[in-house]
This record gives sequence, structure tokens and C-alpha cells, in this order.
Amino acid sequence: MEKTLTIIKPDATERDLLGHILNRFEKAGFKIVEMKMMNLSKDEAGRFYEVHKERPFYGELTDYMSSGPIVPIVLEKDNAIADLRLLIGATDPAEAASGTLRDEVGMDKGRNSVHASDSLESAAIEIPFFFG
Ligand code: RTP
Ligand code: MG
Repeated sequence: MEKTLTIIKPDATERDLLGHILNRFEKAGFKIVEMKMMNLSKDEAGRFYEVHKERPFYGELTDYMSSGPIVPIVLEKDNAIADLRLLIGATDPAEAASGTLRDEVGMDKGRNSVHASDSLESAAIEIPFFFG
């Protein structure tokens, strides 16, 4: 069984989409194995998205990720990392395939409702970031 990290982002907690998104994970065969609600400081958001430090959107991204409650979750399933990326869809909701989570509830490229680890290496760093 593989584990991946997802985060329900501030735009989704604000619009009361927690139950809906958790249901989508469970219906798709993911087991919720760890979960909490919390707020990140801008510094913590910066550390989480450190790989994007040199990108022009880094300031906006870390402001946004520290703007409201988030829900980090560890999900478990065969092929969890790739399958979750498929379930959430492309980064920009306008480009996300029909039926994906970001297509369904995402607002724009910044407020795209959910994060998901993009590789085994990322998951191995991101899971202990929240659940040490
Ligand atoms: P995430 O890490 O949140 O799961 O998103 P992702 O893999 O689909 O996209 P990534 O390239 O890792 O980017 C992280 C977040 O930065 C914002 N972003 N803005 N303005 C832009 O061109 C741009 N590109 C990325 C998005 O909110 C994305 O989720
Ligand atoms: Mg990413």
C-alpha cells in the first residue's frame, strides 16, 4: 500500500467543502489514515512549498496557503500518489479534466482547492512535514 499527502486548501475549507472532498477520496478507494485541521504561518507555508522558492508565484502561493484553515491528510491506496493526481486534475481548474476535483470545485490556478504529492520523493518529505 502506498501513502500520499493531500491538503484541503483554504478556499475549500472556507466554502464548507470538507465533507464533499473527503467523500470523493473515500469513494475513489482511498483510506484516510491521518488528518487534522490547522493554520500555517507564512514561514511554514514557505517551507512546505520550498521547491517553488524561485518561482514568481511563490509569494502569492505562501500568502494564500497561510490565509485560512487547511486540512492535511494522509491517504493510503495501491498506487495512491499517481491515482490522487488523476483524481485532483491539472493545476489550473480551467484545464482540469472533466470530473476531477479541481474541475468540480477549483476556482482558479491559485485557489485550486487541493494539494497532492507529485512523487514518491515528495510524499516522503510532505507526510512527515505534517505528521512527524
Ligand atoms: P500542488 O503542489 O498544490 O498540489 O499543485 P500542483 O502540483 O498541481 O502545482 P505546482 O506546480 O506544484 O504549484 C504549486 C501551486 O502553486 C500555484 N501556482 N501558481 N501562477 C502560476 O503560474 C502558478 N503555478 C502554480 C498553484 O496554486 C499550485 O497549486
Ligand atoms: Mg505540486
